[in-house]
Amino acid sequence: MPHRIIIDQINTLLGNNRPNEALTVVYQAILDHPHSLEINTNALYLTLNMPPALCAQHLAQVSACHHVVGLETLTDKLITLFSSHPERYELFATLGNILCRLESADLAIKSFDQVLIAAGSADIAAKAIVGEYQATAASYDGVDAHQASGQNFVTLLAECLQGPRHRLNIVDAACGSGLAGPALRPWAASLTGLDLSPTMLAMADQTGLYDRLVEGDMTDTLNAMPESADLLICAGATCYLRDLAPFLAAARTWLKPGGQLFFADFPALDGMGVKETIGGTFRYCRSAALTREMAAAHGFSELNGILELSFTLPAFHWHFRKE
Ligand SMILES: C[S@@+](CC[C@H](N)C(=O)[O-])C[C@H]1O[C@@H](n2cnc3c(N)ncnc32)[C@H](O)[C@@H]1O
Repeated sequence: MPHRIIIDQINTLLGNNRPNEALTVVYQAILDHPHSLEINTNALYLTLNMPPALCAQHLAQVSACHHVVGLETLTDKLITLFSSHPERYELFATLGNILCRLESADLAIKSFDQVLIAAGSADIAAKAIVGEYQATAASYDGVDAHQASGQNFVTLLAECLQGPRHRLNIVDAACGSGLAGPALRPWAASLTGLDLSPTMLAMADQTGLYDRLVEGDMTDTLNAMPESADLLICAGATCYLRDLAPFLAAARTWLKPGGQLFFADFPALDGMGVKETIGGTFRYCRSAALTREMAAAHGFSELNGILELSFTLPAFHWHFRKE
């Protein structure tokens, strides 16, 4: 049977709310056509709406159909299969997302790393960033992935937000539209937002949660505020920085001794790489070893480093303290 017809059959069963029968067809299809990109892609996309336990069960069944044991061997098999696919970015990003949700951090990073290209020498120009957010600001908060990413970030950030409320001087670097503001405000004696984009800052202003909003490059702005704060956060913006060193140096300057730094950063398997997004823009990605080495060199000790989804992709959520 042509693969397209099998997939139509699976979709019809799913549309008629018969998921178990759909899965039976999927498993038989993998047994019959183990090298089919279409069928394996379909099996992968089915996991996107599954809760982790069901997803793990499904992938175990997919492994059995491929006559392999374990998630690692299945990941390697899918990596080989997807490598020549024209939609490889989407496929590896999806596989990385699924593995991250299954808490298989090493495999998620390995899969995500397949889409990275060598990091060039040029920084992403501030002008391009401002232009990008001028175009997308109005719809930013309405995108599910942005809301979910913000939610994951503040859930992990909760560890930094302890002790008495209203005591911390907090900076939300690259605050964007202010999605982290509601989580930060109850802990803040003062809350400052920094961003390159005036359009995004205007949205943060509308939340009424920030005491101060500063337009400009976060590294430059932080350097101008020595030892004035307890907590610095940065969600979804270190990926614009080719070199993390100036940002870490500025964070060190800005934080009081014992102050905390919390940020999310896309991973690479080794060193660093660049990912090209579906929209054709670029983001820098770094290995855990590189970030740890740089943070230590700037006088930060690591409190935590967890891989969690950020903008639907695996991302390290780093928590450091200035020593
Ligand atoms: C993906 S958004 C994230 C916004 C917000 N932190 C959140 O989690 O919703 C990235 C933001 O980073 C800002 N940005 C990027 N590079 C920056 C830089 N060097 N300095 C200040 N802001 C920057 C952009 O203007 C944009 O508002």
